[in-house]
Amino acid sequence: MTTPTIDTTTLNFSAGPAVLPEQVIEQAARDLRDLDNTGIGVLEHSHRGVAIARVFEEARNDCRAVGKIPDEFEILFLQGGASMQFGMVPMNFLPAGRTADYVDTGSWTSKAIKDANQVGSTHIAWSGKKSGYRSIPADADINWSQDAAYGYYCTNNTIYGTRWNRTPATTAPLVADMSSDIFSRPIDWSKHAMVFAGAQKNIGPAGTTLVIIHRDFMDTAYSQLPAMLRYAVHADKESMYNTPPVFAVYCAGLVFKWILSLGGIEAVEAIDDRKAALIYKVIDDSDGFYTCHADTADRSTMNIAFTSPSADLDAAFIDQATEAGMVNLKGHRSVGGIRASIYNAFPEEGCQKLADFMTTFAAANRR
Ligand SMILES: Cc1ncc(COP(=O)(O)O)c(C=O)c1O
Repeated sequence: MTTPTIDTTTLNFSAGPAVLPEQVIEQAARDLRDLDNTGIGVLEHSHRGVAIARVFEEARNDCRAVGKIPDEFEILFLQGGASMQFGMVPMNFLPAGRTADYVDTGSWTSKAIKDANQVGSTHIAWSGKKSGYRSIPADADINWSQDAAYGYYCTNNTIYGTRWNRTPATTAPLVADMSSDIFSRPIDWSKHAMVFAGAQKNIGPAGTTLVIIHRDFMDTAYSQLPAMLRYAVHADKESMYNTPPVFAVYCAGLVFKWILSLGGIEAVEAIDDRKAALIYKVIDDSDGFYTCHADTADRSTMNIAFTSPSADLDAAFIDQATEAGMVNLKGHRSVGGIRASIYNAFPEEGCQKLADFMTTFAAANRR
């Protein structure tokens, strides 16, 4: 077999699965052959052996260090994607006779609401649906119910490019879907009962979902569920109740080490802010050529959704960018236009290259 050549000039703006740090890919390539001098590759080890026990232990510890996660929270690596949590959260925490509050900021929260409605009663505390999910509500506009079982929100709305710049204020235990911005900025643990994130954007490859859950909240869960649906079972078995997604957790562990090597979340946040600013500046300086989907105050640093003056120009932009080595820039089908996903591992030079391309494209196509 010949060694494949990797086209390192391609810039992948995919919304997920997304780009991984170069160092992670290189280490994983070596460990595919032989993990820790065991003579066995990471894909082939039993999860019951010491090598994978070490991988999981380090992944948990490094995750705790990266997120500055207090000891009262369990760190779980589950399966079924972030979508599995849409059902698992209400199955565990929404008993008959209670209501759960949801803030609807996009199609991922809509899907979570739909699943929760299969289980019990929900209350939409706010919805951005009618206004095209362009914004995040002010506290005064959110109508929390009196005694909710929990409150639910999504910190970053992957499709629309909006994000919360604060933690919403509810008295109920708060659950957050952080799939598309986890570890891009500090998390206020004092305000959350549970946080979850599918791995395939800021954590690693698809295949595992990180769940970080306060033990007191976990203890309130409905206990008559099948084992795989119970957080306490996964916590008790250190995410190895059944055969876990070893490779995904292994890669997540490498990504956590990479974040620590950069200086942790604060360092990553500063880089992310710089990266996003390069692109937003071109949009803001374009004299209306480019328009952001998100309201200015609610812009995401992870996903930038925007349009040019017409659908034809959007298509031309995407084609020409692809020719220039910048791929996966097509907006989500529900919004259209262009979307640049620039997660933690996306290189800063790539943002500069896109910004330069945007400036040139606008100059060439302005009427
Ligand atoms: C914010 C958010 N939540 C949930 C999901 C669903 O994730 P999964 O495909 O892992 O179920 C996505 C996927 O893009 C997402 O962006």
